[in-house]
Amino acid sequence: MWHFDVLESTNETAKELLETDLEEGLVLWADRQSAGKGRQGRAWASPPGGLYASVILRPKEPQAWVLGLLAGMPVVKALRHFGVFAGLKYPNDAVYQGRKIAGILSEGVYRRETYHVIIGIGVNTNVDLDRLPPDLQATATTMKREVNLFVANDEFLDYLLSQLDDLYSRYRNTKIEFLIKEYRGQCTTIGKKVSATTSKGTVTGRAYDIAPNGALIIMDEDNAKHEFVEGQLKILP
Ligand code: BTN
Repeated sequence: MWHFDVLESTNETAKELLETDLEEGLVLWADRQSAGKGRQGRAWASPPGGLYASVILRPKEPQAWVLGLLAGMPVVKALRHFGVFAGLKYPNDAVYQGRKIAGILSEGVYRRETYHVIIGIGVNTNVDLDRLPPDLQATATTMKREVNLFVANDEFLDYLLSQLDDLYSRYRNTKIEFLIKEYRGQCTTIGKKVSATTSKGTVTGRAYDIAPNGALIIMDEDNAKHEFVEGQLKILP
């Protein structure tokens, strides 16, 4: 594991490092980021106190997206282990009482003829809510706000990595369908009314199931099914 005081983005540094020889499973961890990245081109606020890490994996299949989807499970397990009973909002946000507490950005890249997946994980651990951008404060939360006990980032990361390791070995050794089923059981979006916006438009309906490829199946009012993967997903009351 490589630990830094500050990086622009642990995912970006991981990508630069792919030009060199490094072992699978290498973890880059930064105390803060000056240009943290979120999904869909968004920024990820990365003040000191939070946890910002990227793990480099080399799966046989080029499935960065599904691995990133499943990686939400170890994040939720770690949050629960340390006292925040979080759940998964599709695809891989960890949420507690409807507020986002952690996010994942998984990126697949070919370098030197090898496919790599970078799993970037950001967790609002020891951060005061008012250190996050004002427009997020109504919809985000932090461990510091939700639990009285102080949890050191190295301890949290150790536990998270052991869970991620366990997931990755199951990913390599069992059928992906089993993991998707397990994911479905943990995904709190299923059964809820949602509106999903993609480049093709907006679909409103009930989140109904997770398809074998990891897509969210939404059933609209006419009982037509739509697959949603990437875009903006809102949970409706
Ligand atoms: C999201 O929910 O939009 C994904 C957030 C991912 C943030 C993490 S922090 C560590 C890694 N480095 C980045 O620049 N982003 C990811």
